[in-house]
Amino acid sequence: MDTMKAVAVTPGEKNSARVIDAPRPTPSADEVLVKIDRVGICGTDMEIDRAEYGQAPTGFDYLIIGHENFGHVEFVGAEVKDFAPGDYVVAMVRRPDDCPHCLAGEQDMCVTGNYTERGIKGRHGFMSEYYVESPQYLIKIPNTLKEVGVLLEPLTVVEKGIRHAWIIQNRIRNWQPKKALIIGSGPIGLLGAMVTRLKGLETVVYSRNTDPILTDRVAAIGAVYVPKLDEKGEIINHIGALPETHGPFDFILESTGSEQVAIASMGIIGINGALCLTSITGSEEPMQICPGCLNIGLVLGNRAVFGSVNANRLDFEQGVRDLAAGIERWPGWPESLITRRVSVERFRDGFERKPGDTKVVVEFQL
Ligand code: BGC
Repeated sequence: MDTMKAVAVTPGEKNSARVIDAPRPTPSADEVLVKIDRVGICGTDMEIDRAEYGQAPTGFDYLIIGHENFGHVEFVGAEVKDFAPGDYVVAMVRRPDDCPHCLAGEQDMCVTGNYTERGIKGRHGFMSEYYVESPQYLIKIPNTLKEVGVLLEPLTVVEKGIRHAWIIQNRIRNWQPKKALIIGSGPIGLLGAMVTRLKGLETVVYSRNTDPILTDRVAAIGAVYVPKLDEKGEIINHIGALPETHGPFDFILESTGSEQVAIASMGIIGINGALCLTSITGSEEPMQICPGCLNIGLVLGNRAVFGSVNANRLDFEQGVRDLAAGIERWPGWPESLITRRVSVERFRDGFERKPGDTKVVVEFQL
């Protein structure tokens, strides 16, 4: 049996991520064999390594992690029509069950929870030399985007949130958003800022990260960075001051990973505005809030709050267009979000946060 290098965890066992020799998959006639170029490291991968999340495929006691993938087609089965060796591709993450939404191609809206996700829930991921996939879950990436293709999957999380926000805001006959607030300065936050800038919105990015590099990184796309300078102040108060200093905000994207911030952001939406929550949070720490203040603000201001996870094909396609537009408008900027590269053997170095890090990737050709 041919084997390949892969990074795998034993779900439920803390710090179990390690390099293994896994069986190299073989494609059937209707499948594509993809050779991985690089895989982004995401907070979800670290949560899986901390045994907070993650499920092995049926019949396996390990899970190959990694979902932010980028690779090229190595071989196509005899029945595959639309792909050829050499094509750059990104695979979608979620696979459907048989609920009505999944059957309609919106597995990101699965209503049973019985979906699977590559590298996360019940299916092996992409942090391996090769993977096999059905063409229906592959997105072709133009050669001009090969340096940034690994950013597509996190970008789709943003694309879906924004697509849904704009659908929701159709409730208002003449919604003309002017200002966006992005809370969080990780990859989702910065890619979110890129998309709201591409949509012509004034954009403010807020986070607790005081790394001076962020001011420049955000200014480079014409947005404004506001760090939480007061280390001691309560985040909820600090956030509460933002509408006065920088608002009003027609659209807010929350991506910090903090439930406290997610709740606080419900109190700072502009009148008629929308807040999209994307943080996947795990803590059960209690928090003091003023329910009446939040409720009356939402009601009297016609404010909308919604959560968003994963993405479907539409979002991958929009993401490809926006990556191309981002490169054209701000040459070098999308690439600059890939701040560190590690080899497969040193994948654990990539799990450590270093100053200046935005997206760390595992390079398979190093
Ligand atoms: C991934 C999504 C996935 C979500 C929940 C995120 O890190 O980007 O594709 O749906 O985790 O598992």
